[in-house]
Amino acid sequence: MTTDQWERTGEYLCEVFGAPGEEAVARTLREQPAAAAKAGLPAIAISADVGRLLSLLARLATQSPDSTGRIVEVGTLGGYSGIWMARALPGKGRLITMEREPKHAEFAMSQFRAAGLADRVEIVVGSALERLPGLVKKLGPSSVDMIFLDADKGEYPEYARILKPALRRGGVLTADNMLSSGSGWVTQAPETLDDHAKRWQANADRFNRMMASDADFETGCIVNRQGVLVAVRR
Ligand SMILES: C[S@@+](CC[C@H](N)C(=O)[O-])C[C@H]1O[C@@H](n2cnc3c(N)ncnc32)[C@H](O)[C@@H]1O
Repeated sequence: MTTDQWERTGEYLCEVFGAPGEEAVARTLREQPAAAAKAGLPAIAISADVGRLLSLLARLATQSPDSTGRIVEVGTLGGYSGIWMARALPGKGRLITMEREPKHAEFAMSQFRAAGLADRVEIVVGSALERLPGLVKKLGPSSVDMIFLDADKGEYPEYARILKPALRRGGVLTADNMLSSGSGWVTQAPETLDDHAKRWQANADRFNRMMASDADFETGCIVNRQGVLVAVRR
């Protein structure tokens, strides 16, 4: 597939599967990124079709008889992906989302409030590697239905290692940017990439292979946009 065909296919997926039923605040975030940019947020949120996939995985994970109704996200940004997942939660479900930048967290909370979701979302502000161990201790083993990793790609192996005991059997771990960073592809010759993309490529390949060879998970990759790894805890 050429780059042009790939881009058009992405737009098609977004139009057909992402946009219908997209929550109004999330739609404004996606279509009018100026407010987020004014608050100092970069335009690096997931696309609407990936939002739909997260929403349907969240429904599957949180609405079975052994569900806990709890989702953990690492990398909140402005709350776009969080809105998709929080909306999919059952009545007493909760999204705990972690964000290093206080200004991102503050903006995201304003979006969760505007979407009427503030009562089911908690934002933990701080560095994920510092805050995750305490969170896992507080929540306890097998207490989480779904995890979405979307922060520092070099830290994904550590996020997964720390969070693994908290994910119940049948729960799902998802991770964004596992095929592309936007400026490079996992299959691209490294000498064609700049240093930043080279680092991302090595990190993505390492995490893909780590998850694919972990006998405690059944792992695949959804190729929408920049690739979303999906792993179900055995
Ligand atoms: C790609 S954005 C997340 C996009 C969001 N999931 C969405 O699609 O709407 C990554 C976010 O992770 C945050 N972040 C990066 N490294 C982090 C870390 N070590 N701990 C916590 N947050 C981090 C960044 O500040 C940024 O807001």
